[in-house]
Amino acid sequence: MRGVFSLAYSNELAIFVLNNVSIDMSYNLLKGKRGIIFGALDENSIAWKTAERVHEEGGSFVLTNAPIALRMGQLNALAEKTGAKIIPADATSSEDLNQLIEEATAHLGGKLDFVLHSIGMSVNVRKGRHYTDENYDFTTKGWDVSALSFHKLLQSLYKNDAMNEWGSVVALTYMAAQRTFPDYNDMADNKAYLESVARSFGYFFGKEKNVRVNTISQSPTVTTAGKGVKGFDAFLNFAEKMSPLGNASAADCADYTVTLFSDLTRKVTMQNLFHDGGFSNTGVSQEIVDHFSE
Ligand SMILES: NC(=O)c1ccc[n+]([C@@H]2O[C@H](COP(=O)([O-])OP(=O)(O)OC[C@H]3O[C@@H](n4cnc5c(N)ncnc54)[C@H](O)[C@@H]3O)[C@@H](O)[C@H]2O)c1
Repeated sequence: MRGVFSLAYSNELAIFVLNNVSIDMSYNLLKGKRGIIFGALDENSIAWKTAERVHEEGGSFVLTNAPIALRMGQLNALAEKTGAKIIPADATSSEDLNQLIEEATAHLGGKLDFVLHSIGMSVNVRKGRHYTDENYDFTTKGWDVSALSFHKLLQSLYKNDAMNEWGSVVALTYMAAQRTFPDYNDMADNKAYLESVARSFGYFFGKEKNVRVNTISQSPTVTTAGKGVKGFDAFLNFAEKMSPLGNASAADCADYTVTLFSDLTRKVTMQNLFHDGGFSNTGVSQEIVDHFSE
């Protein structure tokens, strides 16, 4: 990540000002580490931003997505930019996952240090079915893609002994797993399941192989999956006004994920980590009070 650095320093001896100096904010936190990143669809995707940051931090990885998503072709640009290989896999298929892990470890030249599960989809949401009128075939499909796929992924990694010691697996979630957001529909239940899998599998992965498993509970973020939720803009603005630090962007999420992949968080596991500018612990903000006082 490159930022514009502006510094003014003054005392009796010296006054010096630096303006518009481009600084490199990489720390080589993932130098020599290998991994797999699921779920980059386009440049707005949280996984896309994460892949860019991981690359900047020295990590090498395979990019993967469902074959149907790859047909859109956008992932090639990210693969070129980050020097990554693309290997298709439907995350609901254990066969695909095993194949992916075998090919990825062979290509990268060893076991994995990090894996990002950034996958979500609700057929009920897509088809406009209300939570009180679910089509259970849709529910089952959405649960398989959004939640059970995380167990399938962890089980494939575990059984193939594909993770290095002190490796880190992260999945993305949303606070609707704890509190009700009516239009989040059956994705709330999928996220509750996903977070539970992180705890349950995290126990065994920690005990047997010293591998971390966590979920990041991210602010509402403008992406293809995010925009699918009814009333998303209102939702986004409300969260922005509620959060003391404002909403966390996809780029912010990428930064946070890098820390969880790094060696600096080796004893963090089985956690659901809120990355939301403080939203989850705010009862009400002054902005919301002001809005209702008008
Ligand atoms: N956008 C938000 O507001 C928000 C907030 C909190 C958490 N999240 C979570 O972040 C994650 C990433 O979503 P995003 O917002 O970047 O949206 P996105 O639409 O860019 O990413 C979702 C990805 O899931 C992939 N996917 C769907 N079915 C798949 C399958 N069968 N196999 C493999 N991949 C499959 C899609 O192709 C896509 O790349 C999701 O878990 C989402 O629920 C998003």
